[in-house]
Amino acid sequence: MEQTLNPAGPSLTPRTAVVWSVLRAELDRRPSAELTVLDVGGGTGGFAVPLARAGHRVTVVDASPDALAALSRRAAEAGVAERVRAVQGDGDALAGLVEPASVDLVLCHAVLEVVDDPVPVVSALVDALRPGGAASVLVAGRAAAVLGRAMNGHLDVAAALAADPDGTAGPRDTLRRRFDAEGATALLAAAGLTVEEIHGVRVLADLLPAAVADGQPGALVELERALAARPPWRDVAAQLHLFARRPA
Ligand SMILES: C[S@@+](CC[C@H](N)C(=O)[O-])C[C@H]1O[C@@H](n2cnc3c(N)ncnc32)[C@H](O)[C@@H]1O
Repeated sequence: MEQTLNPAGPSLTPRTAVVWSVLRAELDRRPSAELTVLDVGGGTGGFAVPLARAGHRVTVVDASPDALAALSRRAAEAGVAERVRAVQGDGDALAGLVEPASVDLVLCHAVLEVVDDPVPVVSALVDALRPGGAASVLVAGRAAAVLGRAMNGHLDVAAALAADPDGTAGPRDTLRRRFDAEGATALLAAAGLTVEEIHGVRVLADLLPAAVADGQPGALVELERALAARPPWRDVAAQLHLFARRPA
């Protein structure tokens, strides 16, 4: 079984490098195990397919048939179709789709900010985890959205975002909510998860001129890694990554 995520694994970008670092540490805890992974709202398989290539069994539950079709094509092209299961379904109704307490690692990336209510989704993914299993949760950061709108000259939108309890700019906002580290931690803790690590993802990447980001990609990834765990930089990242565990 292939056990490394690189070089056969994913390309590391400011969007992915920090998350893969955290996931790799978890995978390395059981280096010869074939883990059962669940990716809730996994979309087209940006994480699912590399995890399958690394030898794990991945179920992706997603509401979008189009995303799942793209996932299946991607898995087939990567030669891991037999290790990737694509299931159309809702993140808050996993019980009928995934055996309770069976999952070693659950991913829920860029989903809690778009669903109607994040509470039942988090509850469902905790129920899917075996005791001792881990959760990788990526959510939209609130502070970055305020800074980004302001730097683009939209001071009214920035003010609305900063004042709104959910961190949205109103009904035309594409996201239903954004998080700070404290709020996201409270959401996971209320469902019974213990948050072990919090990192910022894209602390700088979205703020830099494209010429800098594109011209020095390796240096940017290294700088993102260096800043990711350290407030105040962590807290102004475009996304917050929480790594949590269901108590054994
Ligand atoms: C922004 S995309 C994120 C995709 C992937 N996790 C990533 O990080 O690239 C959000 C995904 O969540 C899915 N989704 C939205 N609401 C959902 C729900 N209630 N249950 C399951 N999937 C949902 C969408 O179809 C979409 O594929």
